[in-house]
Amino acid sequence: MEINKIAVLTSGGDAQGMNTTINILVRIAALRKLEIFGVMNGYKGLYNNEFVELNTEMVANISSIGGTILKTARFEDFMKKEVVEKSAENLRKMEIDVLIVIGGDGSYRGAVSLVREGINVIAIPGTIDNDLRYTNKCLGFDTAVNNACSYIENVKQTMSSLNRGVVFEVMGRYCGDIALYSAVSTACDIIAIPEKPITKEELIDRVKYCVENKNHSPTVVIAEKMFDIREIAEELTKETGVDFKYSIVGYIQRGGKPSVADKALAMQFAVRTIELIEDGIFNRAIGIRDDKVFDIEIEKALSAEYNFNYDLLNLFYMLNYKK
Ligand code: F6P
Repeated sequence: MEINKIAVLTSGGDAQGMNTTINILVRIAALRKLEIFGVMNGYKGLYNNEFVELNTEMVANISSIGGTILKTARFEDFMKKEVVEKSAENLRKMEIDVLIVIGGDGSYRGAVSLVREGINVIAIPGTIDNDLRYTNKCLGFDTAVNNACSYIENVKQTMSSLNRGVVFEVMGRYCGDIALYSAVSTACDIIAIPEKPITKEELIDRVKYCVENKNHSPTVVIAEKMFDIREIAEELTKETGVDFKYSIVGYIQRGGKPSVADKALAMQFAVRTIELIEDGIFNRAIGIRDDKVFDIEIEKALSAEYNFNYDLLNLFYMLNYKK
């Protein structure tokens, strides 16, 4: 099949490295004489026919900028068959040969629906949550963890000066990667993540253990949705006698310029995407494992085996918890 026109969209939560990927895709497309279109506002824009032709001038200065120049959206309606059908029709009318989707698991499910409508799709993992388990790394995760670490370190310094404890909430939706990597990197004391949940009583018990062992400002990192951190901070203050504050790390994790690691990843993912397109191989998700870029069927990517770093979690336990 001869490929002339490709399109790219970003979907779900934005992730640092999306713009870098767009930059590389457009530059390689120009070298290969492929027309490349951006779809504005993710699947919502696809449904509403929001196509913009991209060129190298438009993307010249975006590589180090967070967010996504194509904008993104959360678009629940894309679960409806008629919405997917119309979106596929829009792609056909535009004579787009391949659609590149950059996003997380919801975006991958959207990609699978389009494949079922006969659309050629390549999916690139872009989500700070790092919750696509077939790949070791998703775009944005490295930057988000670094952002979370700077935030946590700053707050820890002031808390420790006043002998206060602090409970942090980090993002991750149903994935504990940001919590684990930021807790390890900033030497926090207790962690609560969905991959190995603990009860409120266990959490309080672990904080008490820190205090009994002369840690006057214990730090707790909680993945969002695990606990109400305000309540936890109040209870910890009551139970331990240490003044506990709470702090939601929040959207700072998703903003800002991509790290070098995320930019390098973006470059690798974009190159592999174009290689697949040139080889006429579609409906693949790009990933990286043990530093090697690979691709698998998008549907299989969604059901891939669980790939959580239990070694790192065990190391964290070994350093912090009583036997
Ligand atoms: O998927 C990325 C993410 O930042 C999650 O960590 C978080 O749960 C969610 O998006 C927040 O979504 P929104 O920006 O729609 O509030």
